[in-house]
Amino acid sequence: MKITLSVIKADVGSIGGHIRPSARLKQTVENYVREHGRQLLIDSYVGSTGDDIAILMSHQLGVDSPKIHELAWKAFMAGTAVAKEQGLYGAGQDLLKDAFSGNVRGMGPASCEMEFDERPNEPFLLFAADKTDPGAYNLPLYLGFADPMYCPGLLLSPQIAKGYSFTIMDVSYTEGDRIIELKAPEELYDIACLLRDNERFVVESVHSRATDDIAAVVSTSRLHNIAGKYTGKDDPVALVRVQGNFPATGEILSPYRLSHYVAGTMRGSHNGPLMPVKLNSGVSFFDGPPVVSAAGLCMHEGKFTEVVDLFDHPFWDWVRNNAAEKAAEIRMQGFSGPAMLPYSELEYGGVVDKMNQLDKRFNVRGASGSAKGRSKAA
Ligand code: F6R
Ligand code: MG
Ligand code: MG
Repeated sequence: MKITLSVIKADVGSIGGHIRPSARLKQTVENYVREHGRQLLIDSYVGSTGDDIAILMSHQLGVDSPKIHELAWKAFMAGTAVAKEQGLYGAGQDLLKDAFSGNVRGMGPASCEMEFDERPNEPFLLFAADKTDPGAYNLPLYLGFADPMYCPGLLLSPQIAKGYSFTIMDVSYTEGDRIIELKAPEELYDIACLLRDNERFVVESVHSRATDDIAAVVSTSRLHNIAGKYTGKDDPVALVRVQGNFPATGEILSPYRLSHYVAGTMRGSHNGPLMPVKLNSGVSFFDGPPVVSAAGLCMHEGKFTEVVDLFDHPFWDWVRNNAAEKAAEIRMQGFSGPAMLPYSELEYGGVVDKMNQLDKRFNVRGASGSAKGRSKAA
């Protein structure tokens, strides 16, 4: 049976700053999807991570279905009405356009979708991250799908050993989707060379080379490329199919033990460790640290089981403690060097304006016409 999984997520308001949506807001989105999706969806699940709400939907309308995208858009509109009524902060923040035009891509919400022939048992994972951007998944996906240090299936399973192909998008290109497909293991160094740069090159999808089946998809939108100004980080979602011809759940999860540093956290302008958190967690320290949740599900004929909270386990408490230490450590140096993002990635215009003003006050010492230069005055 061919099934499409669609995840569409947005921040349409939260309590106490950019922290967590209200229960009523979440319930409104969930109710809207359930009521209005009756004819369209097989099943749905609504969860939150930080200030973002993710809607997971199973259906048979394929990827990029205007009906599915419209359903999610309208659910977020209904949520926005409640957020305004409750006085939530940033009500409707991610709905950047007034009128829906067929697809949420380019309109603010993030989305990722995959269509496939459902296996007799279909385990898959839904990742949702807040206070960071889509490149946050680059390293975990690389390690989970291409590094035998994390994915021993690459050594132990003949099917998995055939490797995976990575479709990588250049997200700085705004005229269209600029993508490249690279194959692991042969092109591992090329893949690493691109994925090193989380802000520019982002894994869009991963396919099995044994079967050509889709294994993973990531939302790749970059809000500041859409809005042209600060509107928050992109807080990406991802879907990963697991087991059988794909890495095991534990292989996909194992790289999250690193809590690697990613872009985001305070004002979307710093580096912080990606902390694996329980479903429906908020954020806190320094508007962060960047967080990621993981829901595990099985699906049969499009119907979901209940959700397992994959980072709700004592092991991840230890990881969270380490992540907190990493967060505190990098915060010790405030604005200096790698603690803060490079100029091109700063999400607020303040530093840019300041630099423009200061630029006029620079002189090249000894250059003709630089009468005001200190070297001349001295
Ligand atoms: C939002 C975020 C926060 C905000 C900060 C200031 O996702 O990362 O760090 O940037 O709380 O928010 P504003 O500018 O809305 O007052
Ligand atoms: Mg936000
Ligand atoms: Mg957010």
